[in-house]
Amino acid sequence: MATILLAGGAGYIGSHTAVELLNAGYDVVAADNFSNSSPESIRRVEEITGKPVKLYEADIRDNAKLAQIFRENSIDAVIHFAGLKAVGESVAKPLKYYRNNIDTTLSLLETMQEAGVRNIIFSSSATVYGEENPVPYLETMQRGVCTNPYGWTKAMMEQIFEDAAKADPMLSVILLRYFNPIGAHPSGRIGEDPLGIPNNLMPYVTQVAVGKREFLTIFGNDYPTKDGTCMRDYIHVVDLAKGHVKAVAYVLGHSGTEVFNLGTGTPYSVNDIVNTFERVNGVKVAHVYGDRRAGDLPEFYANADKAAALLDWKTEKTLEDMCRDAWNWQKQNPDGYRNPD
Ligand code: NAD
Ligand code: UD1
Repeated sequence: MATILLAGGAGYIGSHTAVELLNAGYDVVAADNFSNSSPESIRRVEEITGKPVKLYEADIRDNAKLAQIFRENSIDAVIHFAGLKAVGESVAKPLKYYRNNIDTTLSLLETMQEAGVRNIIFSSSATVYGEENPVPYLETMQRGVCTNPYGWTKAMMEQIFEDAAKADPMLSVILLRYFNPIGAHPSGRIGEDPLGIPNNLMPYVTQVAVGKREFLTIFGNDYPTKDGTCMRDYIHVVDLAKGHVKAVAYVLGHSGTEVFNLGTGTPYSVNDIVNTFERVNGVKVAHVYGDRRAGDLPEFYANADKAAALLDWKTEKTLEDMCRDAWNWQKQNPDGYRNPD
């Protein structure tokens, strides 16, 4: 079976993908600088699957270190998760975001070329559709105007991959545009572990429910949606991880660039999330309605037909599953990976 290198593999999506790849019989090598994660996540991946992961502490911008990883392992494909992802921070520190995100991509492509590794899957985002495109988003739409440096790094990296694949007919690139990943592995052993105050909705909800934060502020209830709150395409992280397993099979037998949305195609509102979370978990999530957050769109969701047709992938988990699994992880790990058992 093939060996897959997960750049940024100790993070939220990387660790869940490692589990699904190991379960599907792939060998996994992970490299991470732990700037937003902990080696504990990979230890737990090994515990869940009963299989080993070869883990490197490495900065993905370090070409020499990458060359060593490619020398020491026979890598068939790379999944590039390594990146900074906090939208607000990217506005305050744009150069940090451009430097880290773009350089990780360039270093991976350069060292892959030297090592003769031709297959790469990239973690892109629905944010590249920008503000102009109508919903649901389709892969054939042009990339739009992004609203923040984080989004621009994703759009620029997509362009870099496309240009690299045009210049090298042997290169096989898959750009995966994630919608809103939430939830955790059903074991409750791995999950999302944000540092400091969470920026995203679900970790904020779980931290209110567990008593770490007093209340959730819902950003706006005057949007033109069914209940006035924003609508998003929330996807269970295990479904997302399984999408990567399908993408690995595809990238190995392909060349050129292919783009896929990974979403459910069904949007839910912020109120839906709060109400479902309270109902399935039997806990209260104190909340107030506040001002709109700058840059938020009223609604966006995927057209998920292309991934269904070409990758043979469909989401299986419900919003109830997402809320239950997110809570299970938070309850079992109130401090994330910081006080491991
Ligand atoms: P995460 O922060 O949990 O994982 C990213 C990992 O990359 C972390 O473990 C971090 O330590 C590592 N990393 C960052 N820079 C690095 C560097 N220079 N060298 C080595 N390791 C480095 O985030 P995630 O939610 O798992 O996201 C994974 C990818 O998916 C990111 O590229 C993110 O932008 C993208 N994405 C995430 C979401 C989401 O909602 N979580 C949505 C769309 C796209
Ligand atoms: C955010 C990013 C987007 C990125 C995506 C996945 C912004 C503007 N966009 O999308 O670039 O691709 O994450 O990582 O940050 N909400 C609240 N209260 C909160 C937190 C969130 O009401 O405390 C609402 C938001 O207004 C939004 C929804 O919950 O309507 C989801 O928010 P979030 O989880 O931050 O994701 P997005 O904004 O969709």
